[in-house]
Amino acid sequence: MTRENASGNTDDYCNILGLEEDSPLLREDFIFGVATAAFQIEGASDVDGRVPCIWDTFCAEPGRVANGDDGSRACESYRRWEQDLGLVQDLGVDAYRFSIAWPRVITDLHGTVNQLAMDHYRRQLDFLNERGIKPFVTLYHWDLPQYLQERGGWLNRDTAYAFAHYADVVSQAFGDRVFSYGTLNEPWCSAFLGYLYGIHAPGIRDRKQAYQAAHHLLLAHGLAVPKIRVNAPAADVGIVLNISPSDPLENSLADRNACLLADMENRDLFLQPLLEGCYPEPVLNRHPESAPLVLPGDMALISAELDFLGLNYYTRNRVGAADNDAGYVTPPYDGADATDMGWEIFPQGLTRTLRHLARHPRTPALYVTENGMASADRLEVDDQGKGVVNDNARVRYLQRHLQAAEVALASGVKLRGYFAWSLLDNFEWAEGYNKRFGLYYVDYATQQRTPKASALALKALMQLRRKSLTKQ
Ligand code: FCB
Repeated sequence: MTRENASGNTDDYCNILGLEEDSPLLREDFIFGVATAAFQIEGASDVDGRVPCIWDTFCAEPGRVANGDDGSRACESYRRWEQDLGLVQDLGVDAYRFSIAWPRVITDLHGTVNQLAMDHYRRQLDFLNERGIKPFVTLYHWDLPQYLQERGGWLNRDTAYAFAHYADVVSQAFGDRVFSYGTLNEPWCSAFLGYLYGIHAPGIRDRKQAYQAAHHLLLAHGLAVPKIRVNAPAADVGIVLNISPSDPLENSLADRNACLLADMENRDLFLQPLLEGCYPEPVLNRHPESAPLVLPGDMALISAELDFLGLNYYTRNRVGAADNDAGYVTPPYDGADATDMGWEIFPQGLTRTLRHLARHPRTPALYVTENGMASADRLEVDDQGKGVVNDNARVRYLQRHLQAAEVALASGVKLRGYFAWSLLDNFEWAEGYNKRFGLYYVDYATQQRTPKASALALKALMQLRRKSLTKQ
């Protein structure tokens, strides 16, 4: 583990992420990266012609976001982008996963393109490419333009076509400057947290709407894929899903069946259309009144071949049977080994989920596109007056999950890379700025960034890898 007084010298951190020099994760072609998303870090919500998005609206509604926080300032990364990309470079990672803000790029219902925003992202891509850092671009990380929400948001089929236009504009302009295009980040969250549980924008609670939103999100993905392929033939195209495996609260038949239900609704409702071109029958049979309207041709678009599937992995779900609409509940975790989000730390679930995904013959190459933990980090000052953050729990979390990824890789899973969430502390959606996921600590008052022990540990791991590769 890290020394008490982290000096900032990465030698102190050598190999604390626990990988041996001959680990398959340290091979040259395995991609290490860090991830962020536009709304969570950019701020500058009215700069250079950006229009409002559903999260601006949601934040403005009392009681939606902790402390009434919003994204207007965040980490000011729109303005400080060069500094932040410098941090990525300093870590020595191979790739940076970030999202482009749809409400900056397309500013009205007519599809008008905002050149200032395009120039901004082009500069970021050039910066990364010039330094050999692979840009992994997410096109939709939840910031739906408000003008589309006014027309029904993801309940309106036209939104899927609007997304395809936006994807076309971006991929035409940036083409192969982007190494990898991810269409959607976690459509489960957009559909279920946004339209069923009401805890994300637009804050609706209605199963039928959630299922329809899910279908239109997947359709948006399916319409965008062929456009990106034409515009960026050398780039990878894929999608990112959040999957938490389910385990029964008690080892009873009822709870085990509840797990099957939960996995089908939360995982297979998204995975099966992508891999097999159909929705899981048991889900539709359980909720026939909520079945989405699907038009001929939709499922073929949705199940087009992908270059990669991104997995965002944080925890597992403990599931119990319940006499409610869903047929199951996932009570909050009350164990001691929870993160600051209250999520159970369960690295074995990463191995299990990767293996589960790899079993399907149509699964493309896999990436862990997000993994990390929130902790109540504190900025301290060391003997030399330097800022330090001893986030030892995060170091341990990353170590255990990297080892879990290594186990999956060693058993034949086509795992191509791993991204830590997140580069910086940032706006954690309904939790606002309370929850810190960053490798870099952000002091929101001064906007100063300080590497935490976890950042230094990742940097040391990248140095170790370079050393062992040059030896070969
Ligand atoms: C994921 C989101 C990401 C971040 C992490 C903690 O669901 O993709 O934006 O909030 O959770």
